[in-house]
Amino acid sequence: MDRFNHEKITFWFYQAQMVLLNSFSIAFSNVTSMSENETLLSVEDLKAYFVSKKGYVKAVDGISFDIKKGECLGVLGESGCGKSSLALAIIGLFDRVAKYAAGSSKDPRLRKKYEMGLDDEGDRPGVRGSVIFKGMDLTTLDDEKLVEIRGKQISMIPQGLTHALNPQYSVGYQTGEPIEIHDEDVRLIELKKRVLEYLNLVRIADSGFRFVLDPSSFSGGEAQRILIAMSLISGPYLVIADEPTSALDVTIQRQIINVLRMVRDEFKVSLMLISHDAGVIAELADRVAVMYAGKLMEVGDAVQMFHHPGHPYTMGLMSSFPTIAMMRMKAGGKKPRLRGIPGDPPDLTELPSGCPFHPRCSFAVERCKIEVPENREVEPRHWIRCHRYEEIKEE
Ligand SMILES: Nc1ncnc2c1ncn2[C@@H]1O[C@H](COP(=O)(O)OP(=O)(O)OP(=O)(O)O)[C@@H](O)[C@H]1O
Ligand code: SF4
Ligand SMILES: [Mg+2]
Repeated sequence: MDRFNHEKITFWFYQAQMVLLNSFSIAFSNVTSMSENETLLSVEDLKAYFVSKKGYVKAVDGISFDIKKGECLGVLGESGCGKSSLALAIIGLFDRVAKYAAGSSKDPRLRKKYEMGLDDEGDRPGVRGSVIFKGMDLTTLDDEKLVEIRGKQISMIPQGLTHALNPQYSVGYQTGEPIEIHDEDVRLIELKKRVLEYLNLVRIADSGFRFVLDPSSFSGGEAQRILIAMSLISGPYLVIADEPTSALDVTIQRQIINVLRMVRDEFKVSLMLISHDAGVIAELADRVAVMYAGKLMEVGDAVQMFHHPGHPYTMGLMSSFPTIAMMRMKAGGKKPRLRGIPGDPPDLTELPSGCPFHPRCSFAVERCKIEVPENREVEPRHWIRCHRYEEIKEE
């Protein structure tokens, strides 16, 4: 039931309640209890496969990285490379989505395939590998334990604004829902206070009047900021934001970036920022992970990745974006060249042999067509999947 909308609390009444209560301290006690430089999330050889008529869709295929406390990791890659699947696998929802997709298929073979164990090649649908969060491997936890963590310690701002907010419930109710889920005994007055605190934090104008309204009364940019408020309200350690600025115009994108910057800088919340837009990643990320065909091609420090990309795919991505090319021009006094990447990303059920990027790579040699490159740490915390990294660096 929408406890907010039914009561129709007016702004003056709310203000009176505020005076009666002690001032509220934002619930980020979780975060401050961790020491600086501590690894918060460590993902090891993570795989997440869907089933399809053509075979497994290897949406996440052997991914490893870590995120430290207060760090923002930008995950960058073209559409369909597996960014959202990676997020779902981390928060323990991939299996449910993949199973539902297979189960709702008209083809009984797909349903059967989902239930089967490892096949001859050692593959199977669903999630494998480990996701260590504060010492716990999330892939081994049961649903009950995962529900305790999801929304409270790790929260996700999902991709696609249109489906994220429920049109039947008030914005105030939905913003406070993560607290109600994890604390059934929370007092209504305390809940409302916290909801307004967070709606103000993400700069929703007149939130004291408007929190009883349904999502149709808010603009796209406001809806995105409401989702950010919702993701923060339980004081998480990690927020995963999946394409938080797509489908918004440039001015509104700027507002969202500013709110996320405040989240990172003031609350020291770790961020995993997913985007296909290198300009958005450049604004916020401390480190960047470049994803292609379900794999990470390069992970490294953001400044290094934008100014001296090491992997041919990262080079192509960076040269495709005017903002990045302009930054490089400013830094090096060079004229920007916007080249883009030839060809299209591969079908994830039929990956090219060897390096999955070889059909599009101008540096490819015979070896690239045969051997899958290893993920190598070429400098401390700089990982690359390319046979020719050292040679290309010298060129
Ligand atoms: N339910 C599903 N069943 C089978 N394949 C799926 C399913 N959902 C997604 N896929 C496929 O998995 C791959 C990865 O999809 P995903 O949504 O993770 O990519 P993405 O990088 O987030 O893309 P975008 O930038 O467009 O959001 C795509 O090839 C997609 O077609
Ligand atoms: S391994 Fe070969 S094809 Fe792949 S990125 Fe490196 S040079 Fe290009
Ligand atoms: Mg996506």
